[in-house]
Amino acid sequence: MATRRAGVLGWPVEHSRSPLIHGYWLARYGIDGRYDKLPVAPDDFEAYVRDMPRQGFVGANVTIPHKGAAHRLCDRLTSRAARLESVNTIWFEDGKICGDSTDGEGFVAALDSECPDWMDRHARALVLGAGGAAAPIVEALTTRGFDDVIVANRTLAKAEDLSRRLTCRAVPLEDVDAWLADCDLLVNTTSLGMKGEGAFTFDLQRLPPHAIVDDIVYVPLVTPLLAAARARNLRTVGGLGMLLHQAAPGFERWFGLKPEVTRELYDRLAADVAAS
Ligand code: ATR
Repeated sequence: MATRRAGVLGWPVEHSRSPLIHGYWLARYGIDGRYDKLPVAPDDFEAYVRDMPRQGFVGANVTIPHKGAAHRLCDRLTSRAARLESVNTIWFEDGKICGDSTDGEGFVAALDSECPDWMDRHARALVLGAGGAAAPIVEALTTRGFDDVIVANRTLAKAEDLSRRLTCRAVPLEDVDAWLADCDLLVNTTSLGMKGEGAFTFDLQRLPPHAIVDDIVYVPLVTPLLAAARARNLRTVGGLGMLLHQAAPGFERWFGLKPEVTRELYDRLAADVAAS
């Protein structure tokens, strides 16, 4: 059988750590496959994807700015990808382009792995941000059974748009302090706290002692939000786990084996991020 190819489609895609993750699994399981960065401009996206099977590709990850275009291009979608109108994983089946959105699954799998009892209290989650990263997380939290998911965003209209499409409530970012007291899970999906970006101003002291704080930003590995939460002895989850766990369903589709997110892989990725 020919070498099975996969990769990550983005523009730009130079920063992607997906080749490190999939390359690790291909080597670990001795699979005859390869996974590459695939820089493809938006105007070329459709033609490129349609030609992929001919080039030996079994599928690909899709990242910014192509997730919406991939959703429109797919002949078959999982129900969550259809709901989210976003696709981050494609594969080819019976001559059809198929798509899924695995970010939400990655998010909850990271919590399952790092805070196994996180669903013991699931009355209220507060999600900061209403951009592309927020939607799959909101969807995954409500699918798992969180009773009340609140989305706080600087631009309220974007949170309101999310609340029309998914089961959540929209509030302005400046109201966050008022919602922290009853919050079981606080999730940051904004770029605040990322290297070179701004910082949060709200009062973490208001969170209850059992609250879990999850920041999907992973550069730096310990964001200012996570550092503040740890200083309060709250449990924290960083973004690397989500990055690793969202990759696993694609690998399984393409190469037929459910890969393990090992401590060694986590440490390799952390070292790569720390060196950047
Ligand atoms: P992504 O696809 O990664 O979610 P995005 O769609 O650009 O990226 O969304 C970025 C999120 O970070 C948005 O919720 C954005 O708020 P707005 O919708 O108001 O733009 C939020 N964000 C970015 N910079 C911010 C800042 N300085 N203060 C508050 N929120 C910020």
